[in-house]
Formats: sequence, C-alpha cells, structure tokens
Amino acid sequence: MSDSQVKFYSGEEVPLELHKVRIVQKLHLVPIERRLEALKEGGFNTFQLNTYDVFLDMLTDSGTNAMSDNQLAAMMQADDAYAGSQSFFRLQKAVEDVLGTKYYLPVHQGRAAENILGKAYVRKGSFIPMNYHFTTALAHITEYGGQIVELLYPEAYKIESSHPFKGNMNVEALDAYIQEKGKENIPYIRMEASTNLIGGQPFSIQNLRDVRAIADKYGLRIVLDASLLGENAFLIKQREAEFKDKSMSEIIIAMTALADIIYFSARKLSSSRGGGICTNSRAIYLELETLVPLFEGFLTYGGISTREIEAMAVGLYETLDETIISQSPAFIKYFVDEATKLGIPMITPPGVLGAHVDAMAFCSHVPQTQYPAGALAAAFFLVSGVRGMERGSVSNQRDENGNETYADMELLRLAVPRRVFTLSQVKYVIDRLKWLHDNRELIGGLKFTYEPPVLRFFMGKLTPVSDWAEKLMAKFRKDFGDSL
Ligand code: F0G
Repeated sequence: MSDSQVKFYSGEEVPLELHKVRIVQKLHLVPIERRLEALKEGGFNTFQLNTYDVFLDMLTDSGTNAMSDNQLAAMMQADDAYAGSQSFFRLQKAVEDVLGTKYYLPVHQGRAAENILGKAYVRKGSFIPMNYHFTTALAHITEYGGQIVELLYPEAYKIESSHPFKGNMNVEALDAYIQEKGKENIPYIRMEASTNLIGGQPFSIQNLRDVRAIADKYGLRIVLDASLLGENAFLIKQREAEFKDKSMSEIIIAMTALADIIYFSARKLSSSRGGGICTNSRAIYLELETLVPLFEGFLTYGGISTREIEAMAVGLYETLDETIISQSPAFIKYFVDEATKLGIPMITPPGVLGAHVDAMAFCSHVPQTQYPAGALAAAFFLVSGVRGMERGSVSNQRDENGNETYADMELLRLAVPRRVFTLSQVKYVIDRLKWLHDNRELIGGLKFTYEPPVLRFFMGKLTPVSDWAEKLMAKFRKDFGDSL
C-alpha cells in the first residue's frame, strides 16, 4: 500500500504522508529585496545562491533527501577501516539483495561511475546510443572522445502527453543506428531509468526487454543508469499492467537483470550519498576494478564515508517499501495536477524527481537565445524564495566548434526531495507559480557574463538583458504589500 492509495472521504486526492517528522530544520524566507540582491550576487544562476537566502530548496533531489531513523541508527555502527570494512560488506549484501548483482564497486557519486565507465570503454570514434543524456554522463563521454545519440519516440518531446512511458528507447531507430555506425564502434547502450532532463519520465520493462533483444542481436552491452530506479519501478507498478501485482523487489530485479552494468548515484537511489557500479559479470568487474583505487579510493569504500555506506545499505532496502518510495512521485503528481488545473504549462504525465514547468510556453516572449528556463528559474526564486534548477539551454554544452546548442526543452525543474517538504509548502510553491504565470510578461531574458568551458550551468554567471527583475519586484510589492 502506498500513500497515493489512501482515499479521503471528501474525495479530494491528497498525497498523505506516511511518516512523521522528528527532526526539523529552520528555514529562512528573506524579503524579496534581499532575494534580488542574492540573485545579483549569484549571477542569476540558482546554483550560486547561499541557502541562507533560499526558502524551499527545490534545486535537486540529489543528496537532499530526508533520512530515516533506521538509516541514522545504522550510521552509528560504521566501521571506518580503510580495507575490509564491515560496513562495505553490509552494503555489498544490500546491493545483491535489492539489485540482484553479485559484484559491487563503490564510487563517491554517480558521475564518478560515469568517469570510470568512460575511461574503460569510451574512445575517440565511440558512439553511445541512449534514451536521453544526463549532463554529467554526456560530459564524461565527450571527455573521452565519444559521441552520443538520443533515440526516443516523438511522444517524449511532447510537453503535454498521457503516454505512460515517455522515456522508452526508440528500438527501431536503435537497430538502424547500430547498423549505420557499426557494432564495433558502440561500447554500450545506455538506458537512463526515468530520463532526468526531459521531465523525469520512466521507461517500461517491455521497452527494456526490446532493447535487450537488439543488444543481444549485435552482442552489445546495456548500461543502466539506476539513479532514479526506485521511482521508475514504482511507476512501472502503477502504469505497466503486467507488473500491477508484482512487488517492488520483483520489478527492480526484472529491470536490473536485463542490464550488463548498472550504475547509480546514491544521492538519489537510497537517499544517502555515494554511488556504485554493479554487475553479475566477473569479466566486467575485472575490467573496472583497478580504476576504483586509482580514482576513488580503496575497493571497500570508494571515496564514500563509511557512515554513508551504512545509510546506503538501509536506504536500498527502504527503496523496496512502497510507502517510502511512493512519497516523492505522489507529491509530484499532486503538484503537476494542481498546477495544470491553474493553466500553468507543465510536463505531463507527472514523472519522478520533481515537477517540470515548460519555460518555452511560460515565457513564450523570451527567445531561446536569452535562456527562458534560466530566466524563469531566476524570476521564480525572486518572487517565492523557492530555488529550482534551469534544465534547458544553459545546461547544454556548446558543440565541438564552440557553437551554442539549444535544448529540446526549456524547463524549470522544481525538485521534490524525498520526504522533505510538507503539503502546505508545496501549495505555497503552486500559489507563487500561479502569481508569476499571471505576471509572466514581466519576465525578461538573460545573457552570460562568465561562461566556463565545461558544465557551464554550475559556475556560469548571467545578467538580465533589461531591468525586468526590478519591475517584477515592484509588481510583487504592489500585489502582496509587505508580505514576505
Ligand atoms: N545520472 C542521473 C540520471 C542523474 O540524475 C545524476 C545526477 C547523475 C547520473 C550523476 O550523479 O550527481 O551523484 O554525480 N543528478 C543530479 C540532479 C545532480 O540534480 O539531477 P551524481
């Protein structure tokens, strides 16, 4: 039973919290005048804000999830040994029990796994087909000289849709692509459980089976990015008829059994911090093993604190508990459904990780050259104190000739970290979003003043193309008086 299955007498659909709050952290909602100063100091880039100025931090669900009492308790028994730590063996067992893989290599976070896979398998002239890229996955593949291609069905790029599995790989296109590039140039096929950058949209197990059949036809490996695996599995249970009555464990094992290599960011999967690479192949394990001590740390900690290793082990088991794993998708569904009713353009159907606002429609008067998603992220922080993340062209990287590449979608992502926010906080976010939507004409564009060459969205600085932020602030004061 999950929280989304608890019915209210009133008929209202409420994502009921099936946990209680036992430790709280004070938040600061600073006045809008300070929020404007903070934006200026941070180059209108929400990554550059200090959390003292942030009310609700919806930047990411990465490393920001609430831990359970059992996770915190487990952290107390951490064994800090450099080699042979008992904490590691507890985690290794959890990985085997939950993901069904015999071999586990610890890495300090998800992108460290991407670095190791890139080092081991990607060369100049390599092509990596995938359902969709994630920023760090792409950066590591290009760092090692490879190229990527995204093979999705057209439905994936539709903002409004009722398709349950927009993250499905286009298998016909995959087959044709392998023939075109040659299987010898394709080190692996990458499947991302719930395509992060196009709205946290899941793929189905049937799709993964189809990808497996093509991989087998050409003798290729499948790499599964399992960072958002738990929620993808939960949506499979809800949306893929064959798995309606299966347990979370059965669904997760059905997914992982179809991949050769599984890697994950434990900052998402397991609500802890760390990561890993898992496989059932001894040959693959041996190909990767030596890279872990080189880049990460000894094989029994891989750059992760042993306390987090203990929390990860417990968190992996908790992924199998529907009352736990359903919380974030249920809140996201509530958020997206309510915002859609108010006419705010949202990615539908609701996915995982967060609620995604379509900045191209929201700010249709801001040209893509002026980064509508970045502008919307800044404007929304200004009027609410809520920090979201730009997931659009600022998050794209320039091509090999240094030309700007524009994203398929310009999104403001409002992450819903697991079990962190209350429903009234989500209601506040929707309320301010509605106000901003009604005043959207006041939002203007941005331009770079400092653009780093790699992963520019993290450290880049931008500035508004006009005094639109001041005008937006004046309208806020007019409508809200002296309210925070
Ligand atoms: N793969 C996916 C699908 C991710 O969403 C992330 C991180 C990574 C890999 C990299 O993992 O951060 O532990 O190195 N996503 C975070 C986000 C950063 O905010 O979406 P990491």
